[in-house]
Order: sequence, then structure tokens, then C-alpha cells
Amino acid sequence: MDTEEFRRVGRRVVDELADYFATVEDRPVFPDVEPGEVARLFRDPVPRAGMPADGVLAELEEKLYPYCTHTGNGGYMGLITASPLPIGVIGDLIASALNQNLGAYSIGPSAVAMERETVRWLCELAGYGPGSGGNLTSGGMIANLIGLKLGRDFASGQTAQVEGCGLENAVYVSEERHVSVDKAVDAVGLGRESLRAIPTDASFRVRIDRLEEAIAADRSAGVRPACIVALAGSTNTGAVDDMRALRAIADREGMWLHADAAYGGGMLLSHKWPGLLDGLELADSITIDPHKWFYAPVDAGAILVRDEAQLTRSFGLQPAYLTDGFDAEDERYQYFVHGLEQSRRFRGLKVWMSFKRYGADEIGRWVDANVEQARRLHELAVASPRFESAVEPPMSAACVHYLPTRELSAEQTAALHHTVAERVEKSGEFWIGTTKLRGLDWFRACPVNFRTTLEHMERLLALLLEECSSVEAEL
Ligand SMILES: Cc1ncc(COP(=O)(O)O)c(C=O)c1O
Repeated sequence: MDTEEFRRVGRRVVDELADYFATVEDRPVFPDVEPGEVARLFRDPVPRAGMPADGVLAELEEKLYPYCTHTGNGGYMGLITASPLPIGVIGDLIASALNQNLGAYSIGPSAVAMERETVRWLCELAGYGPGSGGNLTSGGMIANLIGLKLGRDFASGQTAQVEGCGLENAVYVSEERHVSVDKAVDAVGLGRESLRAIPTDASFRVRIDRLEEAIAADRSAGVRPACIVALAGSTNTGAVDDMRALRAIADREGMWLHADAAYGGGMLLSHKWPGLLDGLELADSITIDPHKWFYAPVDAGAILVRDEAQLTRSFGLQPAYLTDGFDAEDERYQYFVHGLEQSRRFRGLKVWMSFKRYGADEIGRWVDANVEQARRLHELAVASPRFESAVEPPMSAACVHYLPTRELSAEQTAALHHTVAERVEKSGEFWIGTTKLRGLDWFRACPVNFRTTLEHMERLLALLLEECSSVEAEL
């Protein structure tokens, strides 16, 4: 591809994407297509000979665009993926063109500086002071894994990196945790059996009394309490654990405190509910995903660490072929030394550009609007005899449950919720999920979307009522 072809094709793509953003509200949120049909579209022998870029773009128009989930449509309020900010999309294009490899300073001095500063902004928003730091990850999963690794190494007196973890360890987290925590305890070698899922209260916050009981039981069985994972915005309902109580317990027991604010971190920008994440800064490490509620395109997660040196302690290795010095003042900061990943995408650019273009204040207004939308759904459900709401949403996740007009078995109720969610998907108007809370099935709507409006919520509840009534009649 020569320069002129790049220019021409690039302009065409930018034009197409501008049209895409202009029409995203008119597209069905989810494509009406069978998985096998889409898979067949892409079944091709290895392309041995190339073709002109226009031909490649034509294939995208035929095979890719029509079968996307349009996360930028205001009706998308499902698994937490944001409507992407257009400036972030441009950031990703630039990042790929420059191909700065954030793993090593020698492959991107200005990119390293930009990501360091972007992380510093996130640390400042989270309430961390000087000496804090971190890095941008592919998402909350890897950030939680790094947090757990830091916790494991801390609890072992920084020996587990070399010796593994001999002593049985325990990690404590609310039963409302995201599954990434289960994967993380496995991946860092603690094993899923080391995870203690602690029951929650009526607001889905971890129960401190039950946590204390679990720790005491482990202590008397010779198990080492290693780490607490606090939820600062649970996936189901946006519940925020009592950070101050958890900090006091972690200090008493010599445990690491990691906070999972992958989703909830957006509330740091809120104007209307500024204190919701009070105490987040007390955590030793924090997961925050800009690709969730800071509206960055995937991928951009972050692990923030109160004492940045913990990252070096946990990961610091320097092979001979990477010859730069590190940990000196004004150092050539080597992310590969201070983190898990080696080659790394230039994720900071799109986050930096979004902060610069819109400002934290504007992003915070979208966050507040999403919370208000979730609250509207809650209010509508509370006002309806046919629905119940799990809890008044502290964030943008609202869970509502259909109350049938006659007695249904647990299996029928579960089937009803799943069938209705499928029909909502088929409608192309919305994409919402289902979940389980307190043994019941719920619809879960969670906008992290700057195009969602209060009217979407009114229409959503009306559609749910319509579909629930007709599925109930069919049972
Ligand atoms: C609370 C929480 N933690 C972690 C994750 C995992 O994040 P990711 O999908 O970016 O890996 C999620 C995803 O929704 C989440 O809600």
C-alpha cells in the first residue's frame, strides 16, 4: 500500500465511520442472524494472493458491519461495554499507525510519558497521592489478576514470586464479585478453593460480620488470610463495599486490599454522587476500566497501585538483552520491568485524547445521566404491579424482575426471563442481560452509553411488560 492508497483508503474509511456514527441509532442493536451463518461468511482458504484494499473494504461491508452489536446505539445496555467516544476511535487509529510498543521505553518515549501521565490522572481521580502508579491493561480481568498477584506476593513477604505459594492462602470477596476474580486467584496460583465468597446484605454489600467469621475460621485452620477484594461497583447492581471497614481488617490481619472498580470507577467523575466511592483511595491496588465508564473503545483497563514500587517488587526482572537502567530518578521507565505484560498496545493515547477533548467534567455528566436512567427504570418498576426492582441503583446497573399474574415454578420463571431477553434482543431495540440475585432471575440493564436517554428506559419497561405478558400467556 503506497502513501496515496493509504490516504485514499483512509479517507474512505473515516467517511464510512462518520456515516456509521451518524446512523448508529437507526441500526438494530443486535443482528438477526444465526451464529453458524456468520461463521460461514468468514470461512475462506488462507488468502495466498492479495487484493486491492477496496475489495477488502467491500468484504467488510458485506460480512462485518451488518452483523455487529451496535454498542454505540443508545439501546445497548448489556454486558458492560461503552458507546465508544469518536476521539478514542481516532486515538486507536493513530496508536496503530505509530505502533509504539509500550513494553519498552526505547520503543516509544513520548508514548510511555503519555501513558504515565494518563495513569497519574486516574490515580489522582481515585484519590491516590505521590508514589502511586500503575499501567493500562487489556481490561478488568488482567487488572484484577495483577492486583491479586501483588496481594499474593505481599502476603508471602515477597517470596512467592520465586518460591511459589506453599502455605495455604485465602482471598475474601463478596459473593457479588465478577468472575474475573475467580479466574485471577487461579491464574496467580492460589487456586479457586482459596476464594471465600462472603454473603452480602440487603444492598448487596459484603457483610463485614461474615467476613470476620471467615477470617477467624481460616486463622484457626492454619490458613493465611492473604487478600481482600473489595467491590467498588458490583457488576450486577453497582454495590460498593465498606472500604473503611475492609481497610481496618486488612491492616489488622496484614492483608492486601484490592478494590475492583472496573465498572464503578466512572463514578469518580460524578458530579451528583461525588462521595459514592469514599475510601477507594485506602485500597492498596485498584482496577479501573476506562473502556467501561470512561467511554473509551475496547481495550483500556487499568491497574493502579498506591505504592508503585510494589509493581517492581512483584514483577521486576531484567533480561540481559534489555539493557536500559531502571528505578533511577528521571528513569527511562520500562513498563516490562514494572508490570506483567511485555509488548503492549498504546492504550493511553485514546484515554488521554478523550480527557483532553471532552474533559473529566463532561464525561462525569454522561456518567450521572446513566445513573439517572438506571434510577428511572427502578422507579418505573417500583411503580408497576408487574415488576420488582432489586435495589435503588447506586450506579447505572438496574435489575428488575417480572412478577407473574399466576403462580409459576422456579424453572418457568427462569425460562420466562430468558425468553423475554431473547425477544428483546430480536426486537433490535435494546440489548439487556439477565442475571441471578437472591436465587431469583432478573433483567439487568446497565447503560455506560452517552446516547442512552430517559425515554429509552420508559420504552424498555413498556417492551418488557409486553413481552413478559405474552410469554407468560404461552407458558
Ligand atoms: C466489576 C468487574 N470487574 C471486572 C470485570 C472484567 O473486566 P474486562 O471485561 O474489562 O476484563 C468486569 C466486567 O464487566 C466487571 O464488571
